[in-house]
Amino acid sequence: MDYFRIQGGTTLEGAVKIRGAKNSALELIAASLLTDRQVVLKNVPTLADIETIIELLENHGTIVEWDRDAHTLKLITPQIKDTKAPYEIVCKMRASIYVLGALLGRCGEAKVSSPGGCAIGARPVGVHLDAMEALGAKVELHHGYIVAEAPLENGRRRLKGGRVDALVRVSDGVRITTWGGTVNALLAAATADGHTTIKDAAQEPEVDDLIAMLNLMGAKIERAGEDIEIDGVEKLHGCEYSVMPDRTEAGTYAIAALMTRGRIELEGADMSKLGIVIEKLASAGAKIEPIENGFAVDGRGAAIRPVDIDVAPYPGFPTDLQSPFMTLMCIADGTSRLNETIFENRLIYTSELARMCANIKVLGPGTAEFNGVKALCAADVMASDLRSGAALTIAGLVAEGETILHRVYHIYRGYENFVANLNALGAKITVEKEVP
Ligand code: UD1
Repeated sequence: MDYFRIQGGTTLEGAVKIRGAKNSALELIAASLLTDRQVVLKNVPTLADIETIIELLENHGTIVEWDRDAHTLKLITPQIKDTKAPYEIVCKMRASIYVLGALLGRCGEAKVSSPGGCAIGARPVGVHLDAMEALGAKVELHHGYIVAEAPLENGRRRLKGGRVDALVRVSDGVRITTWGGTVNALLAAATADGHTTIKDAAQEPEVDDLIAMLNLMGAKIERAGEDIEIDGVEKLHGCEYSVMPDRTEAGTYAIAALMTRGRIELEGADMSKLGIVIEKLASAGAKIEPIENGFAVDGRGAAIRPVDIDVAPYPGFPTDLQSPFMTLMCIADGTSRLNETIFENRLIYTSELARMCANIKVLGPGTAEFNGVKALCAADVMASDLRSGAALTIAGLVAEGETILHRVYHIYRGYENFVANLNALGAKITVEKEVP
């Protein structure tokens, strides 16, 4: 198992290429199951999570050609060989649940291992299952598997259009909708018989990426305010589509630029999808300017100011950038408050930051006060999830001394060439092997 040895006191300067969005690519790859024709995806990031979903699709019968260097993926599923998504693969990644909607849409049956909990909270999938039922599926749980079947009519198992509700709860006045549940409902409803409305659908841009690709494949889907309207079609065809840029990857490097008081050009990043993150970074002291194919973040000479964050579904502040941003707040000149409404357990990293001399007071589930300190100090710390792994890496870049970051396999799930990119910008990180 790898760990990172991070030399503190470096400044990041230069350019970095932002890759395709992991969370979008996962949806688009799952959507390829809906057709027996070839789907060509461009700008696919080379990541462990992409390997996992490919492994899952191969198990269902997809023939895969992946040119990692060209970031191009060719997928064709002439027929579904096996409708079972086994525990061994699903347990590696929650987004595996997308094959539930895709398999139901393609062949009317699916047996998907129920995803368990994870380090950032329980993350149930009840709303996904309700959505499949609202589209006419019979859904049962058998020995850890979700077993779902569409109604049989004229020899074909096919879902029926219906009304799906993606709202999970209202928390502190914030409407929490499910992103993954919206994706599953879209995948299931695209080829259902009749009209579907997804009420309170997730507004994330990656959902629009999926809608755009499905429409290119022949689906009839459009946003209508908070809802999504879908006219089910008989069949979908193949397509060629390019994955949107990763806003979390871009946001992480943007935060690192200010954190290390350097300047980074984010090539290929889409500033328009990072509205509130850009606003908060500017409030914290960064100068942000558009460049030809992306944007640049300048933190040179900046005094880092405290900024409060309320995490909320898009267009609110994204939960996936919460830990990197609050890590920046650890060295701000004053106190910042955090309110994390989506995953209240997503504060585990704060105890690791405390080992690095951060002054954080957790006030309750999802709320904390970050009192800026003059400097972080190096320590042995551990990544508990993907984003906190990135956050602790950037903490190590500015800490006094040498930080050792364990369990970095989390980071490989979501950041392509993270260490090589940071080192090219001026970081001093070596990847080493844990002694068993
Ligand atoms: C997706 C993203 C993840 C991001 C998260 C929130 C992918 C692969 N992952 O995860 O990076 O952090 O959105 O923006 O795109 N919930 C229920 N019941 C359900 C479904 C969800 O209670 O059936 C709850 C969850 O526990 C959570 C909230 O709803 O509190 C939002 O979760 P959801 O939007 O579904 O997150 P994911 O799709 O799993």
